Amino acid sequence: MTAWHDAGPLAAMRFEPGHPVQLGDRWIAVFHVDGRYLAIDNACPHASAPLCDGTVENGHVICHLHLWQFDLATGRCDVGDEWNVRTYPTRVVDGRLEIGLP
Ligand code: FES
Repeated sequence: MTAWHDAGPLAAMRFEPGHPVQLGDRWIAVFHVDGRYLAIDNACPHASAPLCDGTVENGHVICHLHLWQFDLATGRCDVGDEWNVRTYPTRVVDGRLEIGLP
């Protein structure tokens, strides 16, 4: 079951290209791509670089440290499935972004 958590007002978010959000002890990177808000774990599973600071191309974020790529919709890593990142559902309620956690 998904529990929705308030991530703050969209107007205050800066997508450069990702916006980091802390929910409890979890850091999430939110990207605004083609009108959708896509949320993934912020820490790169390789060496923990913040994926919010990566480069977005063709629906993927490219980690700026060693250039691994992650599909923003599925979390799939181009290096291998053991490196996939978690994705989270999002929704907009009254101008605020909500992120669903398991
Ligand atoms: S820390 Fe992200 S690819 Fe190495």
